[in-house]
Amino acid sequence: MAIYLDSAKLDEARQAKDLGWVHGVTTNPSLLAKAGVEPEVVLKELAVLEFHQVYYQLVSQNVEDMLIEARKAAEIVKTGLILKIAPTDNGFRFVAKHANEFPCCVTAVFNPAQALIAREAGARYVAVYVNRATKQMGDGLCLVRGLANVLAGSQTEILAASLKSTKEAVDAFLAGAQHITVPFDLLASLPIHPLSTQAVEQFNAEDFGIRLKP
Ligand code: E4P
Repeated sequence: MAIYLDSAKLDEARQAKDLGWVHGVTTNPSLLAKAGVEPEVVLKELAVLEFHQVYYQLVSQNVEDMLIEARKAAEIVKTGLILKIAPTDNGFRFVAKHANEFPCCVTAVFNPAQALIAREAGARYVAVYVNRATKQMGDGLCLVRGLANVLAGSQTEILAASLKSTKEAVDAFLAGAQHITVPFDLLASLPIHPLSTQAVEQFNAEDFGIRLKP
């Protein structure tokens, strides 16, 4: 199980690192475009933060250019790089050819057949856009369950993305996703429940100074 920050904004990444329990950061071209700095700068700064993993999505279209781009990303990130690969013919070709050199996550997976190919090609992860699938296909969690069924017993794990609420994140995990990636605001709200806040306020209000002596 791992929880990731789905963002390329460095201030959010720094705050996420400070939380102590965030495994890594997932980016994609849309998120990088919102970062306000060049992708090289984002990757360099994320590497400095020493997350366990940093996901970078290749944008090159053919396998040769993808390999050049992948090696450039690896040069910057150094350890923990996961390549996000679009589920295209060349994307699957790249995974099949280079999954031993680069851990790959086939992203934007919307049907179990794509997960089967990702598994066969040697992808370590598939990323499924849960909320987007619910909006456009009717039931994103049913898709997660389908992916979990076809990937059962394999080395390929599911990263649930496109999550808009704590409930949706938990439900995606319960449906079979091993990992979740969420925007910063949702990440920060995951630990919070009003009754927990109320209980802590009560503990603090009733603090009679009774504690172990240092
Ligand atoms: C995944 O990599 C994307 O950043 C994001 O999760 C997609 O979610 P959306 O449906 O909100 O665009």
